[in-house]
Amino acid sequence: MNIALFGAPGSGKGTQAKQLVEKFNIPQISTGDLLRQSISNGTELGKKAKQFMDAGNLVPDDIVIGMVKERLNQEDCKNGFIMDGFPRTITQAQELDKLLSELEKKLDVVIVLDVNESEIVERITGRRTSRKTGKIYHIKFNPPVDELESDLYQRDDDKEEVVTQRLQNYNDQTAPVLDYYLKQNIVIRVNGSKSPSEVISDIIGALNG
Ligand code: AP5
Repeated sequence: MNIALFGAPGSGKGTQAKQLVEKFNIPQISTGDLLRQSISNGTELGKKAKQFMDAGNLVPDDIVIGMVKERLNQEDCKNGFIMDGFPRTITQAQELDKLLSELEKKLDVVIVLDVNESEIVERITGRRTSRKTGKIYHIKFNPPVDELESDLYQRDDDKEEVVTQRLQNYNDQTAPVLDYYLKQNIVIRVNGSKSPSEVISDIIGALNG
């Protein structure tokens, strides 16, 4: 199955993607994670992307599309994938359709996680990630119970002033992409404000329904 998770920053895309990876045994393709990986590897692409990310702005389409193209061509994507944070502009959505059609594939479903903005800010500013395992936690909603997970860090772009800019960009540039998929009739909407376990069971129910 070829899935895209769609929603505002902090709506729970990464959290739900990890559940879907286990359920369907297909890889998560998170453009945010790929970009952060390039930054920590000190690549030219990473250096270029960092300035946009630190300011809470979208990285230019050509950079992100090139990265996704390379990832989709890897062997582990042949039985499906879970897009997390891509596409985020109309151009990215159009280019994804082109890339998939070259590979004789198509996007099967776009899962939208609906969460209101006040909740989003609380979620993002409280998010912590494990350096060792990449697991996502929240200081209030989902604190780590295992001592091995004490190596938590906060993302540079999770400060409140940057979050406001990310939300603005989501509303201006990303939310309109939903219309593109509504026209294709492949959208499922889920209430992302419920607990993570309720959200995943709603997603699975909708996929089976
Ligand atoms: P990216 O890494 O994709 O960030 P994002 O879309 O802003 O989404 P987040 O990772 O912030 O949130 P999420 O929805 O995954 O939520 P999570 O599960 O972590 O992008 C970062 C930057 O990279 C962008 O700003 C841009 O610069 C660049 N970029 C990336 N892709 C790009 C693209 N395609 N084009 C251009 N630029 C691009 O959950 C958040 C918190 O809430 C966690 O603490 C979690 O524990 C908690 N939580 C999750 N679910 C629940 C729940 N149900 N109840 C309570 N708490 C919950």
